[in-house]
Amino acid sequence: MTEIYDVSSFERNRKWYQEDLAQVNEPIRRLLDEYSRVPSSEVVKHVKGIRDRAFAISPYPCIGLFRFTNLTLITHPLYNKIVELLKSDSKKASYLDIGCCFGQDLRQLVFGGVPSERLVGLDIERGLLDLGYDLFLDRETLKSDFVISDILKAQGKEWQSLEERGFDVIHCSAVFHLFTLEGQITAAKNIARLVKKGGMIVGRQMGNVKPGNFPALIEGSFCYQHDVGTFGEMWERVGEATQTCWKVEGTMDLININPIDTLEDEGSRRLLFTITRTE
Ligand SMILES: C[S@@+](CC[C@H](N)C(=O)[O-])C[C@H]1O[C@@H](n2cnc3c(N)ncnc32)[C@H](O)[C@@H]1O
Repeated sequence: MTEIYDVSSFERNRKWYQEDLAQVNEPIRRLLDEYSRVPSSEVVKHVKGIRDRAFAISPYPCIGLFRFTNLTLITHPLYNKIVELLKSDSKKASYLDIGCCFGQDLRQLVFGGVPSERLVGLDIERGLLDLGYDLFLDRETLKSDFVISDILKAQGKEWQSLEERGFDVIHCSAVFHLFTLEGQITAAKNIARLVKKGGMIVGRQMGNVKPGNFPALIEGSFCYQHDVGTFGEMWERVGEATQTCWKVEGTMDLININPIDTLEDEGSRRLLFTITRTE
């Protein structure tokens, strides 16, 4: 795939690297405290240490600016319903977190009472998945599977077995917005094959009141930012190409948006979405 970032471009990457972390906020603080048992006095140092190791291998703004500490799924309007569905022994529902990074949202579900073996995380970068165990100190206890795969390629035995299994709930946050529109359509067509009929994809990403191409992480490269309308149009195209049907619902707000950040502007919005497979 086309590289998304350049690890050697320190000067550019430092634009989205925040040196210090004053505090770790709820709800991840409670997760680190009660699930991971990181001593309270050590939490900031612990998170910063993991962040620095992660930024060295994957210099994303969500890592450099500590945005991974703002848990996403828990803010989704369907969160409680998703937890109940995944906890239910009779429904045996399944969950896949695409671009899960450290698996922070997955751990929050486990902390919320979901059996960890019902949850799968997927990421292209093995190092981030490994650092997830170091961040949450659960290498010996977590029973979730983690798959290393590229959603732009969707190849290999592991991807095949994800397709055969199918998922009721897919979480995909801060992932589509990394790619061009063409890349997003490729990824969405691949992801569409993983969703059971009646299943859903939930998440958030960087949206914009003026949808279009915006500067991406590598100098001179671009990514596409949607509003709810263009995101819906993209899923119509995906539906036509995959003979599936999707209902797209979304909202745009200013939560965790900072227009003075290098990669944001006054039109930037958090796009929170639910994409339900109807056919
Ligand atoms: C910006 S982070 C978002 C992490 C997390 N979902 C969140 O909301 O904080 C993007 C994640 O997607 C992963 N990723 C990027 N390109 C990918 C690809 N082609 N296939 C699978 N994962 C990818 C990255 O390694 C990274 O963990």
